[in-house]
Amino acid sequence: MDTNILDWSEPEPVAPTPGFAPPAAAPVAAARAETAEAGDATGLGAIDERGGRVSVDDKAMINCRADVNQLLPLKYRWAWEKYLSACNNHWMPTEISMQSDIALWKSRDGLTEEERRSIKRNLGFFATSESLVANNIVLAVYRHLTNPECRQYLLRQAFEEAVHTHTFQYIVESLGLDEGELFNMYREVPSITAKAAWALKYTQNLSDPDFATGTPENDRAFLRDLIAFYVVFEGMWFYTGFAQILSLGRRGRMVGIAEQYQYILRDESIHLNFGIDVINQIRAENPGLWTKEFADEVRTMLRDACELEVAYGRDTMPKGFLGLNAALCEQYMHFITNRRCAQLALAPIFPETENPFPWMSEVMDLKKEKNFFETRVIEYQNGGALSWD
Ligand SMILES: [Fe+2]
Ligand SMILES: [Fe+2]
Repeated sequence: MDTNILDWSEPEPVAPTPGFAPPAAAPVAAARAETAEAGDATGLGAIDERGGRVSVDDKAMINCRADVNQLLPLKYRWAWEKYLSACNNHWMPTEISMQSDIALWKSRDGLTEEERRSIKRNLGFFATSESLVANNIVLAVYRHLTNPECRQYLLRQAFEEAVHTHTFQYIVESLGLDEGELFNMYREVPSITAKAAWALKYTQNLSDPDFATGTPENDRAFLRDLIAFYVVFEGMWFYTGFAQILSLGRRGRMVGIAEQYQYILRDESIHLNFGIDVINQIRAENPGLWTKEFADEVRTMLRDACELEVAYGRDTMPKGFLGLNAALCEQYMHFITNRRCAQLALAPIFPETENPFPWMSEVMDLKKEKNFFETRVIEYQNGGALSWD
């Protein structure tokens, strides 16, 4: 089955990720309780020469007792499949021509001041967000997710976030933008600061060197971090930005950046789906964590995050933006928020709403969009995932 395509078909009905099947909770919980302190969650502990071989039943998402250096036998095939899909999607920003974007950006009347401002704020949000996400993966998530196949994916994801950060360096350099202005927007533009600050508090919670999972309170703190970064940051907040730039690309403007955003969007769709699977797997293995109170708290997180995004939309395009306006982006964010609720088996937050940007699903299918962007084919030999015949 081609998970590359299934994983980023955003507007399709919500379906479990292929291969995702939460195992029964009992064996894992029993194994954990038995030898909680015997496990070495970091993988850097002394080698136990007399330790038994790892069996899949010993593996667990958090608080694992099994040797975290043994990828095989695989327990979570969905995580391994995502690692393979991500490798098949390899790309680099410098392979995409910026000539047309440079000509438009430097032309005197190709873009209005309003459009330039919206584009810069869009780039400014992403430029540092990619680093915030990468730091959370490397410094918080990796440490507490005690499963080697999930860690294998995290290593790949961390590299992809580096590629995404590279993309913004390449855009700044190509267009001759003020690098200080762009990379400081998360501190200087209040609607961007509000989003970054909201998410940062969840990773800061885990940054205490003494923080460890293993109590319901701390396990929930880890779940909150996963929700804040995978579901909200990568799964909600990137989407207004994607819609803005891809809307421009569909109209033949800033097509180089639009193509780069297509690739980022495809990567991010897998990041989101991985995060959702991780959260749901932890929940299945630790059913006591997901109480009614916790579910209510998660819904409140998503509602607050949606409000922050709507405010960001109003701030970044007060007068509309080539086919988009803040009201449509608000409707889109309600649609996306409800989808994220469904993926976490939560009740919807907003009344059912239509997706105002049905073309986003087309844009996500790189094969169909080839004619819009008229760009060259980038095809890597290791998967042919980008073959646009
Ligand atoms: Fe990213
Ligand atoms: Fe990401």
